Amino acid sequence: MPMRTHTCGELRSSDITSQAVLCGWVNTFRDQGKGLVFIDIRDRTGLTQAVFDQEDCDSEVMELARSLRREDVVQITGSVEPRAGGTNPKLDTGEIEVRGTTLTVFSRSNNPPILPDDNEAPKMAEEVRLRHRYIDLRRPTMQRTLQMRHDLMAVTREYFHNLGFLEVETPLLIKSTPEGARDFIVPSRVYPGKWYALPQSPQIFKQILMISGCDRYIQICKCLRDEDPRADRQAEFTQIDLELSFVDRDEILKIMTGFIRRVFKQLLDLDLGQIPKVSWRLAIDKWGVDRPDMRFDLHLQDISEVAAKTDFKVFQSALAKDHGVVKAIRIPDSAEALTRKVLDQLQDTAKLHGAGGLPWTKVTEDGFEGGIAKFIDCISEELSVALEVEPGDTILMGCDEWLTACESLGQVRLHAARHLELIDTTAWKALWVVDFPMFKWNADKQRWLAEHHPFTAPIPEDIDKLESNPGSVVSAGYDMVLNGSEIGGGSIRIHDSEVQNTVFRVLGLEEEDMRVKFGFLLDALSQGAPPHGGIAFGLDRLVMLLMCTDNIRDVIAFPKTQNGADLMTEAPGPIDQEQLDELQIHCVERAAVE
Ligand code: AMO
Repeated sequence: MPMRTHTCGELRSSDITSQAVLCGWVNTFRDQGKGLVFIDIRDRTGLTQAVFDQEDCDSEVMELARSLRREDVVQITGSVEPRAGGTNPKLDTGEIEVRGTTLTVFSRSNNPPILPDDNEAPKMAEEVRLRHRYIDLRRPTMQRTLQMRHDLMAVTREYFHNLGFLEVETPLLIKSTPEGARDFIVPSRVYPGKWYALPQSPQIFKQILMISGCDRYIQICKCLRDEDPRADRQAEFTQIDLELSFVDRDEILKIMTGFIRRVFKQLLDLDLGQIPKVSWRLAIDKWGVDRPDMRFDLHLQDISEVAAKTDFKVFQSALAKDHGVVKAIRIPDSAEALTRKVLDQLQDTAKLHGAGGLPWTKVTEDGFEGGIAKFIDCISEELSVALEVEPGDTILMGCDEWLTACESLGQVRLHAARHLELIDTTAWKALWVVDFPMFKWNADKQRWLAEHHPFTAPIPEDIDKLESNPGSVVSAGYDMVLNGSEIGGGSIRIHDSEVQNTVFRVLGLEEEDMRVKFGFLLDALSQGAPPHGGIAFGLDRLVMLLMCTDNIRDVIAFPKTQNGADLMTEAPGPIDQEQLDELQIHCVERAAVE
């Protein structure tokens, strides 16, 4: 007999009368006290009920069966019979049970600190589950998540293989590739005082692969960014990373639209439909964010023209700014639900995102009431027409220069929609955001930063403006957004060393620094570089969406906590003095440095 003949989710009524050997964990255990012991045995495929009856087996086996406890690992041999207590419709194997005759205990579980129970998991502290991840991963939901991750990788490899992409591995010990985050660094033993960086992404290598004639590259790769983890962000995460030669933006969007539609069709049997393209400017103007959640319908409207007709100081000082605007959202049927307390919370959200405050008013049968109503009396009718108001509406406003007004009101829009439960959680809304600005001004550093990364090309018609008016240059970058989450981002790249030089200059890189950091890339670009572009999808974020969770740690087998720790292995940890000596690293207390 083999060690097992079936998995625990496999047996059906068609197997009745056959012999089965099952291996797995004791999920539940019941000693009926009438010479009957029931055991639900579990593996990653499901559960099967086994029964030990003193009529069928000898006393040693019964003794051993009675000694079992949850999470012991066992082998049960017996015959497959109809379930004596009637079918259990909740189980795939609910028509049968295994009448056990032989029992082997492979190993005992020593009073498990947690149980792999999906109903119990939300009540347990996540830290305890992460510390005992080997038990937590036994939960059916976690097993389904690992399966979904695997299926996503399999669909990905198949889709791109059929389109002629080559999977190429790029190195982990590299020179820094700036993607806007801090690098994790690794000391070199052979070159004391020198350091490798771990890749924030394979960006430069995949571009070099295009220059090397690879034509179409894919890699499912780990990326490492030393930034604080969040609900949708880990320091160590996985990308589906791609690069293509001799393509324009729309061809890449077409291939990637086909990919995401294939993923949802194959894994959730769901048609995402065509995916619309929206410019960055329109996204900010209409939804106040560059990754709009389109599953609900509140829009930002520009009421600057009407607002200019009042003396209200808040409006006037916003409109006096460069690109100053007054924007508004009308939230139907919300006057009661948006209480003073909730409005205060929404105001905090607005302030957190740069606004001075959140002017509001409500609509009654007699016009505007509450909040700033008295300041807008003289435009009451005009504003009512412009916003098409109805009694019961709440009007929230953002007054500032255009970007701040839109972005703060965009966050208020999201917060209000969550509070009012306006988001259709059964809907799937994807879009492409295109035509991003090439640079954003960083007031603290007093210099331009790249909106995507420094290798993104400007649209051809804006190349001449790179140095004369960087703020107006539009990039050939694009993001895919699904239900308000940025799941992928990429761009057409610069394939001309002169243009790359100019972009580095705009970003404030001195000529010498440029050579030290990127000399190899500039050299490669001047040795025959094809026009090329690419994209990377966040694999973890995609699995989060597919599994309907908003916690990235739920979709990674061994994630880090919010503080970047692995609670199971206790990393990061100290290393031996001997290792430090070998690396010629001398640690000093931070206090001693300061
Ligand atoms: P970008 O930095 O936009 O682009 O990353 C691409 C996608 O990766 C996911 N992602 C993350 N997921 C989890 N945790 C993180 N810390 C994290 N950071 C990013 C997001 C994001 O859309 N080299 C470019 C791609 C390119 O231009 O081809 C890059 O890495 O879903």
